[in-house]
Amino acid sequence: MTSDKNLAVRDLTVHYGAVPAVTGVSLEVTAGSIAALIGANGAGKSTLIKAITGLVKVRSGEVSYGGQPLTNRAPNVILDHGIALVPEGRRLFGSMTVQENLEMGAYRIQDAAKRAELFDTCLRYFPDLKPKLPSAANSLSGGQQQMVAVARALMSAPSVLLLDEPTIGLAPAFVNVISAVVRDINKQGVTVLLVEQNAEVALRLSDYAYVLEAGAVVKHGPSREFLNDPDIKKAYLGL
Ligand SMILES: Nc1ncnc2c1ncn2[C@@H]1O[C@H](COP(=O)(O)OP(=O)(O)OP(=O)(O)O)[C@@H](O)[C@H]1O
Ligand SMILES: [Mg+2]
Repeated sequence: MTSDKNLAVRDLTVHYGAVPAVTGVSLEVTAGSIAALIGANGAGKSTLIKAITGLVKVRSGEVSYGGQPLTNRAPNVILDHGIALVPEGRRLFGSMTVQENLEMGAYRIQDAAKRAELFDTCLRYFPDLKPKLPSAANSLSGGQQQMVAVARALMSAPSVLLLDEPTIGLAPAFVNVISAVVRDINKQGVTVLLVEQNAEVALRLSDYAYVLEAGAVVKHGPSREFLNDPDIKKAYLGL
């Protein structure tokens, strides 16, 4: 792991029209770590993720990866730098088959052998998808669709994986599958930024966490400490 391949956001501000959604946010995801971003509905989590991946325009501030500025670059350029997104609400190609969705994820991989290897890895992570490969993505259950969304991102062989609420609405068994895969790909060296409303899942998976409120970071620290933090417990863990 090269310690200089951190994903960094500096003093980032994003507006929708005149309305600020993210204001002055700074964070750094250390190469090889899992960072969590937690916060209530409307806190600005997705906006921040979209700003990193080029899906919304940054008004001021900077996004960089390994020291290289990526602010306001196009989504495909961000992906070319190895930063892949599992978007909020999955955004699968619903009428396309599961197999086609996975192949779309690998569009930037030229080497057929490498694509085949990535495909095998995805099916090893999500064996339930194997019998579903010829099925239309929108015919799958919510949990299966989320697996497709994660697998599609993995098909790009990312160095950094951003996941926006990958477990929302899923049954515990699916939450466990997704969590185990995130943990495993991180062990393989992939840097992870995980957005979750389920703070418990996020804090248990991550090394470091940021708490976003009304578009700003109000707290950050090692996830382990947050699990025992009375304010976090009250606000986000329902304890
Ligand atoms: N396309 C948009 N146009 C205008 N305002 C938006 C748009 N998307 C989000 N917002 C507003 O920006 C703020 C941040 O929204 P965002 O979706 O980033 O929050 P979030 O933390 O991801 O919430 P959730 O947990 O519900 O996914 C909210 O006030 C939201 O209403
Ligand atoms: Mg969101």
